[in-house]
Amino acid sequence: MTQPFTLVIFGVTSNLAQKYLLPALYDLEDKGLLPDGSHIIGIARSPQKEGWIQEHLHQILHKENLHHKHEIKDQIKELLFTRLHYLDGHLDNPDFYQKLKIKLDGLNSQNIIFYLATYPDLYQPIFENLKLSGLSNLADGFVRLMIEKPFGSNLKTAKQLNKTLHQYFKEEQIYRLDHYLGKEALRDILSFRFGSSSVESIINKDHIDHIQVSATENFGVGERGAFYDKVGALKDVGQNHLLQMLTAATMEKPITFTNEEVTKERVKILKKLLPQKENIIFGQYEDYTAEKNISPDSLTETFFALKTFINNDRYQNVPIYLRAGKKLAQTLTEVTIVFKDKKNQPLRYHVHSQRDNFLVQDPYEALILDAIRGDQTYFNDVQEVEAQWAFTDPLSAESEKGIPVIYQPGSWGPQEADELIEQDGRHWINF
Ligand code: BG6
Repeated sequence: MTQPFTLVIFGVTSNLAQKYLLPALYDLEDKGLLPDGSHIIGIARSPQKEGWIQEHLHQILHKENLHHKHEIKDQIKELLFTRLHYLDGHLDNPDFYQKLKIKLDGLNSQNIIFYLATYPDLYQPIFENLKLSGLSNLADGFVRLMIEKPFGSNLKTAKQLNKTLHQYFKEEQIYRLDHYLGKEALRDILSFRFGSSSVESIINKDHIDHIQVSATENFGVGERGAFYDKVGALKDVGQNHLLQMLTAATMEKPITFTNEEVTKERVKILKKLLPQKENIIFGQYEDYTAEKNISPDSLTETFFALKTFINNDRYQNVPIYLRAGKKLAQTLTEVTIVFKDKKNQPLRYHVHSQRDNFLVQDPYEALILDAIRGDQTYFNDVQEVEAQWAFTDPLSAESEKGIPVIYQPGSWGPQEADELIEQDGRHWINF
């Protein structure tokens, strides 16, 4: 059992905290994985009455169609309630951090994880004030930061953010989070590949015809329009989730399965990826601009399809096709390796998480546990996040230049995306 810790959630009323984080904490409680003496402090701006945070959690757990659909046990919920605390305050106000410090001292918190579910423009004041109030480092325990994607909005801003972070925290305290790295199914790709030499012997240019990575979704932007319209599909899921799926399926076997070695192999692939500006298609679903909080003349893409190559010996000239989008025919999250020898079935890694299945560990559960244990293997370091942006930047410049092709909701995206692959004599694998 791990040591007790205090998780401080900056932005406890955010979509992210409600949809993913708090339900995952319930599951950890249910599985007995929250050590005695652990606490959760939720922070938001509005002052609230005593008991509000417990009521907030209750609402989240019982709201339909949210993250987890399994039974909520009163006894577990009550236990989690006893760990929950709420503090109101403005995160750019230094006085707030004195209040936070008093609270943390009162709980005798020896190990602290700060989870940032806030707007990125608050990061700098948070880091600075944590440092000024002596909360960025503790003499006898750990202080760790969990930071959600998007990490920056391009290579330049990601570098700036890394630089800022390093003024206040050491790299081993920083957990840059992409929840795809928490998915059991993605981690299983590594066990499958590296547990069996027979599979690995055919994962190379002599045997592979091409690779496809798809993250298609059959729903639209929903309530997240304000965020999504500023970002678009390429930055929302391409720069991060799709690249993580690709690296898991193509990276070399690390010398050891330590954080440094595993991350190093992922980064090697990312650095060899060739962005091809002439081979990218952007689409927007019909009536996207009529959705809530979307600018009526928005040119933001809700779909992209691209072709790339990994410029190393193992995959030289093997085409790789990536696509992702919203309001498509089907939700499909998959890496497919198609072999030259048609007698070999394509190798299909499904990376979809079954959120309603209690037996499958939720990505957030896995990542919170990793952060408590101090294991950064499935988090992004400086090199990784910057290599992802270095690949994405030239492609997103294309999106800024052009007008996305309109596609029908419920289709597989624009015709041009089919042509991108069909002109090479191949086709998207949809079912
Ligand atoms: C998020 C994106 O990071 O990942 C969403 O912001 C996307 O737009 C989601 O829907 C997909 O995650 P999952 O785990 O449902 O495949």
